[in-house]
Amino acid sequence: MSAKPKILVTSAAGKTGLPTTLQLLGKGYPVRAFVRKTDDRSARLEAAGAEIFVGDQYSLTDMRGAMAGVRRAYQCAPTAPNGLHFNAVFTVAAHEAQLEHVVTISQWLADPDHPSLFTRDVYLGDSLIKMSPGMTVTTINVGWFADNYLMVLEMAAQLGMLTMPLGDGDEKKNAPPSNEDIASVVVGALIDPGTHAGKTYRPTGPELLSPNEIAATIGRVVGRRVKYQNISEKMFLKALKAVPPSNYSEAAVTQLRIYAEEYRRGTFAVGAPTDAVKRVGGREPESFEALARRAVSERPGAVPSFRRRLKALADFMKILITTAPKPDEIEKNLNHVLLKSPILCQDSAEWREHHVPALRETNARKVA
Ligand SMILES: NC(=O)c1ccc[n+]([C@@H]2O[C@H](COP(=O)([O-])OP(=O)(O)OC[C@H]3O[C@@H](n4cnc5c(N)ncnc54)[C@H](OP(=O)(O)O)[C@@H]3O)[C@@H](O)[C@H]2O)c1
Repeated sequence: MSAKPKILVTSAAGKTGLPTTLQLLGKGYPVRAFVRKTDDRSARLEAAGAEIFVGDQYSLTDMRGAMAGVRRAYQCAPTAPNGLHFNAVFTVAAHEAQLEHVVTISQWLADPDHPSLFTRDVYLGDSLIKMSPGMTVTTINVGWFADNYLMVLEMAAQLGMLTMPLGDGDEKKNAPPSNEDIASVVVGALIDPGTHAGKTYRPTGPELLSPNEIAATIGRVVGRRVKYQNISEKMFLKALKAVPPSNYSEAAVTQLRIYAEEYRRGTFAVGAPTDAVKRVGGREPESFEALARRAVSERPGAVPSFRRRLKALADFMKILITTAPKPDEIEKNLNHVLLKSPILCQDSAEWREHHVPALRETNARKVA
């Protein structure tokens, strides 16, 4: 029997769950990988040595089963409706199973009065998980993933355009972390609770990049000029409806427009880059160019060709003729809990106190 504690990874087939599972197995930890279904991703995890658990993260019965015999866990709630339900199910099961340590993925934007319901659910989930006596928690406070730009990699490669609603091409910056680097911080915190219990870390890439720099990097990687094109919220919503990312619900799409607004306000540039990947993950953070090269090598659709260009053009035409969804109406129909006076991050005193480096340091000195 392994002397190392068994670790549960939820959303194990997802962007951060998959590399977290592989990195833990690589370090000799027994891992139970919670997936929604068996497929090529679960087969890859199983081949690497993970024990596969198929279940529904909304189900307390399933989560109880997944936690049997486990001592630590990575909690990664999917970006899906009823996020607070995911968090409550996980917290109740973790409390009952008396886990010793949990690493949970949060959001850089998490704040109590944020306009995004999903983000408020994350904030509440972060608070609930910390209430279990005897169980320590490390919070991974991630901003805008590098992976988000790669959602439009194929279109960029075929049409030479990076169309996203990120605002001014030179000004609006982010230091995007790769999924593997986020996972390295999760793993660092999971295997060393003594050092990381009670801490919050924000993994980022190595440098702040503007949308023009991101587009130029993709251009270098795919071997053609790629130009960033700022698009309106309406066009963004039309694109999400016409060519939906594989796993986003209609509810999630209503939240993405709010995250894009935060991007345009420069919220993801605040306090970035950080040294979390090096300090906690024990590795140098990957450059955007390195991870874009990896994505291109794994995705044949990103290699320019005449046939693929025609397909990308057809998708682009589809976006233009699609009627724009009405996010406010969708949220109303979905009975989303909406606040009378929501507050975006940089207008929130609480958010600034915890996220703006100078204010955070003053605060820490006061507590000490
Ligand atoms: N993307 C960003 O820029 C960003 C920024 C900050 C924070 N975050 C946080 O990151 C987290 C998401 O992490 P991620 O991107 O690594 O996850 P992800 O790639 O979205 O993976 C979620 C996984 O959960 C599975 N799943 C969905 N519903 C399920 C259910 N009911 N039961 C069981 N499994 C289910 C999905 O299965 P299938 O693949 O089979 O559909 C998927 O594999 C969220 O909590 C979000 O708040 C994301």
